[in-house]
Amino acid sequence: MSKKASIGVTGLAVMGRNLARNLARHGHTVALHNRSEERTRSLVEQFGDEGDFIPAYSAQEFVDALERPRQIVIMVKAGGPTDAVIEEFAPLLEPGDVIVDAGNAHFADTRRREQALRERGLHFVGTGVSGGEEGALHGPSIMPGGSKESYESLGPLFEDISAKVDGEPCCTHVGADGAGHFVKMVHNGIEYADMQLIAESFDLLRGAAGYSPAEIADVFGTWNTGRLDSYLIEITAQVLKHVDGASGKPFVDVVEDAAEQKGTGRWTVQIGLDLGVPISGIAEAVFARSLSGSTGLRSAARGLGGPTRTPLTGSALETFADDVEQALYASKVVAYAQGFNQIQAGAAEYGWDIDLGRVAAIWRGGCIIRAKFLNDITSAYAAEPGLPTLLTSGGFRKAVEDAQDSWRSVISTAVRLGIPTPGFSTALAYYDGLRADRLPAALVQGQRDFFGAHTYRRVDRPGSFHTLWAGDQSEVEA
Ligand code: 6PG
Repeated sequence: MSKKASIGVTGLAVMGRNLARNLARHGHTVALHNRSEERTRSLVEQFGDEGDFIPAYSAQEFVDALERPRQIVIMVKAGGPTDAVIEEFAPLLEPGDVIVDAGNAHFADTRRREQALRERGLHFVGTGVSGGEEGALHGPSIMPGGSKESYESLGPLFEDISAKVDGEPCCTHVGADGAGHFVKMVHNGIEYADMQLIAESFDLLRGAAGYSPAEIADVFGTWNTGRLDSYLIEITAQVLKHVDGASGKPFVDVVEDAAEQKGTGRWTVQIGLDLGVPISGIAEAVFARSLSGSTGLRSAARGLGGPTRTPLTGSALETFADDVEQALYASKVVAYAQGFNQIQAGAAEYGWDIDLGRVAAIWRGGCIIRAKFLNDITSAYAAEPGLPTLLTSGGFRKAVEDAQDSWRSVISTAVRLGIPTPGFSTALAYYDGLRADRLPAALVQGQRDFFGAHTYRRVDRPGSFHTLWAGDQSEVEA
């Protein structure tokens, strides 16, 4: 009998191809399949010497090439194409076999598919994979959901090919059914927030301190040696250093300032709203992209009155870069705190047993938001698994308290000079909102009761109450 593959990959565009190569490079025999045969052939031609591949040119051939339980990784476009591929393979599989969707699927689709396939005796594992093309090849962060049983066979393979930090794999069984894709979605939401905060830092250093992109690249380079050490800061410095070959201008000045998105950040915000979790940092990041892309609106409004960006001078200028570093750090803690709270809320809503410390641990390497900072989040949850928010955990609490003078001063400068900082500002508003003794929400309750008899609760006794606003203004129990 010829050798069988321990896993198969179907959908051999760059992500699928690199995952397959990563598996083969780790000594696993990989069956290959793609809708058009050309991709399968070219993978074997170009990279066949990297390991053991079994090319298959029909769905049946692919399934037959796999040892049992069969494990098939689907790497196709989210949505309809994923359903089509599942329907192509599911009828050829047997109970106990595993279908893995490693694309950026919506977790609600994953829940639906998992249930439908479970009823047919198959395991369906929605898996978050982060790290882009390079990560897929050299070691991504992997976030599998699905059944515990499926992780028994799949886990060792995925742990093997994932990134490693301090010898630990950046892969863990996140939770049942859609938990893996949910966690990947929030990862991307945090990614949007982190990118927006970094972009605001750039805008401030340019607009308020008058630094050039190359000088700002150096500032980011320095930050990358400290507590902000992260992949996103590192690549930002590289992007800012880059000079456009055609014009000789800084690359950042020849790129259209309209940020696009594939939609995972938007999903995070939509779900945040459904769950009632205030993820304002992520939301502002998504809205900032939308605003940047509102070309017609922006050209209609360009030239509206406001301050001009006069660069700072003297001691304010001297300390400005350090102040921005503090503001960025504090805002970043808020964005991550909000994201982890969203995972906590999702877990409660959908009955997932998600270990937040493990999530932080598998984000330390391989993924787009990988950062030194995630070590501190891992430790914070290890020390206090029921932590209500990262902001109250010892180290973060002190660091944010220490950063707040700079944080407030940077935002004041931005407001004074008319530099938009939606990410920094919303993060500070969240911080001040959380730490407030009393919020004006009491007045909102009064307004609601006035026009709609929506009732309110009192601070001094239990029950619901309504004031007879249009009558004698006495209070009645509702
Ligand atoms: C990752 C990335 C990846 C992808 C995003 C980009 O974790 O590897 O997040 O999933 O690059 O989808 O998203 P936008 O196109 O929405 O910015």
